[in-house]
Amino acid sequence: NLLHQKSYLSNGEFIPWEGEMDEVYSTISTGASYKPTFLGTVPHMNEATALEVLESACKAYGKGQGVWPTMKVSDRIAAMEQFVSQMKTKREEVVKLLMWEIGKSLPDSEKEFDRTVEYIYDTIEEYKQLDRDSAKFQKRDKVNAHIRRGPLGVVLCLGPYNYPLNETFALLIPALIMGNTVIFKPAKHGVLLLSPLLEAFRNSFPKGVVNVIFGRGREVAAPIMKSGRIDVLALIGNSTSAIALQDQHPYKNRLRLVLGLEAKNPAIILPDADLDLTIEEVLTGTLSFNGQRCTALKIVYVHEDIREEFNKRFAQRVDQLKFGNPWEPGVKLTPLPEPNKPAYIQELIDDAKEKGASVLNKRGGETSENFIFPAVLYPVTSEMRVYKEEQFGPVIPVKPFSDIDSLLDEIAASNYGQQVSLFGRSIKQLAPLIDTMVNLVCRVNLNSACQRGPDVFPFTGRKDSAVGTLSVHDALRSFSIRTFVASKEN
Ligand code: G3H
Repeated sequence: NLLHQKSYLSNGEFIPWEGEMDEVYSTISTGASYKPTFLGTVPHMNEATALEVLESACKAYGKGQGVWPTMKVSDRIAAMEQFVSQMKTKREEVVKLLMWEIGKSLPDSEKEFDRTVEYIYDTIEEYKQLDRDSAKFQKRDKVNAHIRRGPLGVVLCLGPYNYPLNETFALLIPALIMGNTVIFKPAKHGVLLLSPLLEAFRNSFPKGVVNVIFGRGREVAAPIMKSGRIDVLALIGNSTSAIALQDQHPYKNRLRLVLGLEAKNPAIILPDADLDLTIEEVLTGTLSFNGQRCTALKIVYVHEDIREEFNKRFAQRVDQLKFGNPWEPGVKLTPLPEPNKPAYIQELIDDAKEKGASVLNKRGGETSENFIFPAVLYPVTSEMRVYKEEQFGPVIPVKPFSDIDSLLDEIAASNYGQQVSLFGRSIKQLAPLIDTMVNLVCRVNLNSACQRGPDVFPFTGRKDSAVGTLSVHDALRSFSIRTFVASKEN
């Protein structure tokens, strides 16, 4: 079924869009010969319309005096509960679009939907707790302080294509419940799947509180930033877009940033690692959703003493993975939503081969129009592009190491600092490594792959990987400010 999104949401209304439309295609092809599938259309909005939408969000915020930022906590919760219950009725539609638009497997698409619903309920519970806490007074030197949490203003939210529902909502939901008004722009791939939910937004929140724009970032998001009327830029995606948008804002010191950016999470395999477990975890960590996760393992460091066995068994295991359409049972690898991704991954493979690496697995690099089979590259060196770039796709660089201290120096020199996975049995050996690693990254995974969830845990990174922290608990704080009422005892 084609989906034509012929309007945008602004000021609590669906405003018909009469202008140019952008066509949305899936890289999935079901015919005998390859042909991208046409899925529908979305408005190609322009600067003037984007600024009208901005006006709607600013009006609803009313410089902090609007209906939403001043609403009672219980009423804001009721609005969010209404939204989530209407959202749940759209599960089938959204899951289907997740599969078609971004090629996410059926189990992973269902998981993304259910996890997002759970995230909303957890956020509501956390918000209630925050409210209970703010009922407590603090007292010092005869001053009573009643601490509250207040909204920040108008938030511009941009989510990524790999989690177009979950990560867009990981920004949107906490921003909303704290009393901010929001403009969000869906990701280019994964734009249609938010359409079934727009009515629930319109029905559940006062007018102008949730607004949606479509189109190119530089044509719609950049002018909104340039207006200087955005208080928070919330983005999960790449740092180039984040910096470009941030740079548009004329008063940068007033702008709060909540950013989830790139990472190059390493797996470190120590000589005493349990190889059965390690191979399965590294497989999931590197190739879940074809490696298109900021939390994916993007480089594997294997100790010289076990590299032969690891490389052989891991390469065999990669070749056993099944490629197919997202709804087919047992499929682990699926079409890539970005049409230029197979060519980019091929460039990384060619570059590594020219500089001395080999492809360890038989199927590595097999290509079709919408996919490239993951290549295990060994030995990778620091001169290779695959070592330096965040591949965000199916290619696995493996680098040997013998001296753990030099490896720690290498990891400390990285521009990224999100997570690491450590594989080994001896606690005596792992303990000092953990102590160092927690100062280099923000999450150390023991004998398990890197991942974001469960979403109640802090999700952040050091250096170029993130600004601010997203977890159910932290996100409410990221999108608000502590204020208080002080009264003096005489
Ligand atoms: O792209 C980054 C996502 O937050 C990854 O989430 O680790 O749960 O797949 P995940």
